[in-house]
Amino acid sequence: MAFKTIIEPFKIKVIEPIKITTEEERQGYLKEAHYNLFGLKSEQVLIDFLTDSGTSAMSDNQWASLMLGDESYAGSKSWGRMRNTIHELTGYPHIFPTHQGRAAERIVYGKLGGKGKVFISNTHFDTTRANIEVTGAEAIDIPIPESKDTALVYPFKGNMDIGKLEELVKKHGKENIGAVILTVTNNSSGGQPVSMENAVSVGKICRNYGLLYLIDCCRIAENAYFIKHREPGYENMGYYEIAQKMFSLADGCIMSAKKDAIVNMGGFFALKDKDFADSCRETLIITEGYITYGGLSGRDMETIATGLQEVFDPDYLHYRIRSTAYLGNKLHEVGVPVMLPIGGHAVYVDAKKMYPNIPAEEYPGQALACELYLKGGIRSCEIGSVMMGHRDASGCFIAAPMELVRLAIPRRVYTQSHIEYVIEVFEKLKEDCGSVKGLKIIEEPRFLRHFTAKFERL
Ligand code: F0G
Repeated sequence: MAFKTIIEPFKIKVIEPIKITTEEERQGYLKEAHYNLFGLKSEQVLIDFLTDSGTSAMSDNQWASLMLGDESYAGSKSWGRMRNTIHELTGYPHIFPTHQGRAAERIVYGKLGGKGKVFISNTHFDTTRANIEVTGAEAIDIPIPESKDTALVYPFKGNMDIGKLEELVKKHGKENIGAVILTVTNNSSGGQPVSMENAVSVGKICRNYGLLYLIDCCRIAENAYFIKHREPGYENMGYYEIAQKMFSLADGCIMSAKKDAIVNMGGFFALKDKDFADSCRETLIITEGYITYGGLSGRDMETIATGLQEVFDPDYLHYRIRSTAYLGNKLHEVGVPVMLPIGGHAVYVDAKKMYPNIPAEEYPGQALACELYLKGGIRSCEIGSVMMGHRDASGCFIAAPMELVRLAIPRRVYTQSHIEYVIEVFEKLKEDCGSVKGLKIIEEPRFLRHFTAKFERL
């Protein structure tokens, strides 16, 4: 018989102590950090949901493979293992290591971009957009309309709008499209999955018009879980085979290994086309390192190879997706407005609905992130008007489309009792909803203000 409790499919061999703090102490820490959670010291945080990137726990096998790291400058055995693992998974012949995802983006989009070029994605992640726009090119997001309604339950809310894709290609001309990028899962749109059907349709349009089709695959294993359990026709296929099929539809991929390779640092890109790969190789050597390490230690490459195999383990993926859903669904049950259905790597709380009394100009998402920290020592990330809002030329405030707070869950790090604690903290926050005030920005940099802006409470 199947039990309803999902146990973590691992036991703990090494622990990292968490320092328990009081609300009073946290008041002081938050004030010192100017109400910006990026300004906190990690030891001031009890549960860190800032990101799932590079924060996961490696397995005993990964730690063991670390010792096998071959640190040779050229022709490292560890690179051979990493390359073969990626080749088997993706099928792409030309594979390049980089120190993290955005380094791969800089090389690939640096080559493809430039003034007049247009890139189209279900949603570009911030660094993807930045690496495209810095070349003078334009990055256009076309998520399906269903993705905008946080309460709507729809199986593949991460999909790309196929009708719009074709319209955009006709409007801009196929020669001006730098690439079409499918981000799986769609991080900036709630960590929602992309269906195989959508990936196939994107592929057909790309082939018809001769466009380059790339997959941002940093959470491809999590995406494969959703396909197997939600998309008809894939029930009997393995997660690894589902991922392989998705790769086979595209011309290449970029991966931040800090997510689904379950490592603390690393990345790569892989391509079908030899000429394009040849041109990227030069830049890789100039800026990242030689082609057999690209900014990574041999030991890092070993752990990536091991992690990329472990992540497709059915017990691991079941635990990963079901435990994220457990947190999200419990919050929903206790009346916390969350984005539905729950995505793969994170739970997104709708702060606009939680604090209807706080206008967007007073940053309800930031207010919620601060409350979560104060009451429970939980660090989250605002994805709303602090991150994406701005003032236009006349000084008028332009709000972000949504005021979300992301609880991104590191892989294999927290246990169910940590999660039960988070739910309890939210129950307390619900009770105090009406009395919470917004914030104002008192100092901000010109770009990416969410990292360093200083706030004051209203
Ligand atoms: N693409 C996606 C979809 C991502 O989520 C990220 C990183 C990157 C590319 C860039 O990779 O950090 O290795 O350079 N996302 C992290 C996050 C930072 O918190 O969601 P990177």
